[in-house]
Amino acid sequence: MSDPDVLIIRRLLQAGDTFVSGNDLGTELAMSRVSIWTHLERLKTQGFRFEAVRRRGYRLTALPESINPVLVQAHSSLRTMPTLEFRGKVDSTNSEAERLLADGARTPLVVLAKSQTQGRGRLGRNWSSPDQGNLYASFAFRPRIPPARMQTFTLWMGLNVCETLRNFGRFTPAVKWPNDILHEGRKLGGMLTEARIDSDQIRDVVFGLGLNVNTMPDDWPPELAGTATSMAGILGQRVDINRLTAALLGRIIAAYDRFIADDHTAVFVDMWERFDLLRDKKVSLIQGKEQIEGTARGINAQGALQLEIQDGTLRSFLAGDVTLAKPSPR
Ligand code: BTN
Repeated sequence: MSDPDVLIIRRLLQAGDTFVSGNDLGTELAMSRVSIWTHLERLKTQGFRFEAVRRRGYRLTALPESINPVLVQAHSSLRTMPTLEFRGKVDSTNSEAERLLADGARTPLVVLAKSQTQGRGRLGRNWSSPDQGNLYASFAFRPRIPPARMQTFTLWMGLNVCETLRNFGRFTPAVKWPNDILHEGRKLGGMLTEARIDSDQIRDVVFGLGLNVNTMPDDWPPELAGTATSMAGILGQRVDINRLTAALLGRIIAAYDRFIADDHTAVFVDMWERFDLLRDKKVSLIQGKEQIEGTARGINAQGALQLEIQDGTLRSFLAGDVTLAKPSPR
């Protein structure tokens, strides 16, 4: 059964400026007028505003600006909604997803939060997660596939995130192997995939996505001011995080289905070429204690970074931390 709050908001969104009569709402949603009124009163506490006029009905006059699970679902065109969990503040959406999975939550499961107190990135790094209108989301699945197949998972998801952002915001982000989303050299987002593995199968996987959506240029902490960017900073205006989240939800779930069906391989490497930040650039890769200098030449079908090293040979790397080499002084 769909959530009545979501059905009401979806119907009022569709109507735009037009009033929808209480009778019509009641008939369409199989609810009494009193019950509709009760739902509207509750929705007001979340930041929705309605105009109610006798004999005409209701229309929406304001929406919550911050991330709101009712609004995300109302904007979504998914036929079957994933299990959606929303937290105002949480340690980490990835940790919360892991706990919910351990408790037997139905998948796909999506955990959204307004802020995180212990947001984490790759290699144990911290992910700054203030309540500033950014996206902190974790998508959890039970794929039951061999671990070797997961090698391209984060990369594939990153490409789908980039396409969604490009369609949404009319700017082109780039992926930086293996888990960064950048725009003009500044970090726009990051991905952290964590999996639990039984002997020969992935039991469950959590794909964490942090996207700088609405942090304004003056609001970065000093340590990030020179390296981070946000969609609002790029576009010069606030972004509707609820529409964006709905678009990402649909895209990531579809991308997961393609991944599991192994239907992504035909487009994966080509898509990577379109969004690859490192392509043909001089880079330095750190893997354990080894540091390797070379020119990035894309990835192979297994998701391994291809580095052309000094003697012209191509080496493949499945893991590592990459930095762009500084241009040499002229
Ligand atoms: C990185 O760039 O190192 C990855 C950052 C991933 C951050 C996201 S925010 C949502 C999810 N929850 C976390 O604790 N981390 C990921």
